[in-house]
Amino acid sequence: MSATILPASETTAITRAADILRDGGLVAMPTETVYGLAGDAGNGEAVARIYAAKGRPSFNPLIAHVSGADMAERLVEIPPLARRLMEAFWPGPLTLVLPKRDEAPISDLANAGLDTVAIRCPRHSAARALIEAANRPLVAPSANPSGAVSPTKADHVATGLGDKIDIILDGGDCPVGLESAVVAVDGDTATLLRPGGLDREAIEAITGPLQTAGQSDAPASPGMLKSHYAPGAAVRLNARAAGPGELLLGFGEISGDLNLSATGDLTEAAARLFSALRELDARGADTIAVAPIPGHGLGEAINDRLRRAAAPRDAT
Ligand code: TXA
Ligand code: MG
Repeated sequence: MSATILPASETTAITRAADILRDGGLVAMPTETVYGLAGDAGNGEAVARIYAAKGRPSFNPLIAHVSGADMAERLVEIPPLARRLMEAFWPGPLTLVLPKRDEAPISDLANAGLDTVAIRCPRHSAARALIEAANRPLVAPSANPSGAVSPTKADHVATGLGDKIDIILDGGDCPVGLESAVVAVDGDTATLLRPGGLDREAIEAITGPLQTAGQSDAPASPGMLKSHYAPGAAVRLNARAAGPGELLLGFGEISGDLNLSATGDLTEAAARLFSALRELDARGADTIAVAPIPGHGLGEAINDRLRRAAAPRDAT
């Protein structure tokens, strides 16, 4: 089997994809962050198929994508602080980890049996149309084999998972390019579990200083493990020039073989990061050397992904 690629802007494509989801099938959908591999959150077999397609350890829970706070309310308790975050940033690249309701219509496999569920309301029009047409929460991890670089184009999905999905909805390039920020809200306390496409400064304007996820043996966000986002090539960070066998991914004045942003714009760099790693891989780099990226704003999430891309691969 090889996935059918359909234009995400066509109503007939959305209708067909929603039918497939209701029948327990899998659809790759564009979101503003990265492409997601979507399935019906309430269908345990569909969820199992997602884990199998990605080769993902099933202790790593999935994000349920909803059409808004009303649909979220069927799955989780929403404390006032979480409500304020939803009002400020939904739809958009912010995932909230909240206490699961007892009667939540979500497979235990989807949230790995935890007593919380991660919820996100995407901004991308095709993702929104698909959730509404399916009329149910959709779980969707990034549509890449587990541990590999996340997809920001339909082609990336077809290359990594094309033989395991029914339909790929092609919505072009993902405008944000980095996964959502993941924030756990417990009463009045907000903890940043994963930096992402909404920067810390924006979130802290609502929450005050965010807590940092503990560095314990069992990470609060189980997906935040060691090697991840890894291209085929090795990755070397904070490089100012390419060494032998290396291609240089530049930023700002360090132009390199490809530049994430010649003007030093972190939003542009985020949007280009994953496809740039793939392109330098395709050009045959043994090692991708990456110029220093500042740590403020979206730079926090960019550096997080780069550190994981550079982590020892035998750690996975
Ligand atoms: O932007 C995104 O978030 C994309 C698009 C497709 O929406 N999705 C995505 O999903 O990045 P995924 O599965 O690759 O990452 C989900 C992250 C993982 O780090 C996972 O451990 C964490 O969210 N997570 C999910 N449920 C959780 C929970 N109940 N408690 C703590 N962390 C959770
Ligand atoms: Mg992922």
